[in-house]
Amino acid sequence: MKTKILMVCLGNICRSPLAEGILASKLDPTKFMVDSAGTAGYHVGELPDRRSIATAKQHGLDITYQRSRKFTKDDFQTFDYIFAMDESNYDNILALAENNIEVEKVHMILNQISPNSNSEVPDPYYGGDQGFENVYQMLNEACTIFAQKIS
Ligand code: 4NP
Repeated sequence: MKTKILMVCLGNICRSPLAEGILASKLDPTKFMVDSAGTAGYHVGELPDRRSIATAKQHGLDITYQRSRKFTKDDFQTFDYIFAMDESNYDNILALAENNIEVEKVHMILNQISPNSNSEVPDPYYGGDQGFENVYQMLNEACTIFAQKIS
């Protein structure tokens, strides 16, 4: 059975699609499955934001296969690790958890870099392109550490 990892943000068009693409590129696809979702359904069915697509492309990643979807309670059954980008995502995910096993699957992604800091990946949606590169750099560091730990 593959180990399954879910990246979660608000809209599933900016941060978590990048996180999915970055982590997937660092793991053996025969052993791991990586997906992403949003706590809100504003953009369901859409491609990632063009700025996320461009930033991924600059780093050699194609994320255009992805389509936005909403996080559901069933994701607690499917996934082994659920990573939130910020505190708001974390709280919205935990609000759907029904037991401690589910609660313990949920982590703040940047705690891979600084354990217990609960640092947040800033939402780049309303900012400029540099915000997306900043998000990429944070996620790349966190995903490198996590991939080394579980591989
Ligand atoms: P994301 O960014 O959560 O990183 O995908 C956002 C995308 C869309 C919206 C907010 C944040 N929105 O309000 O539509």
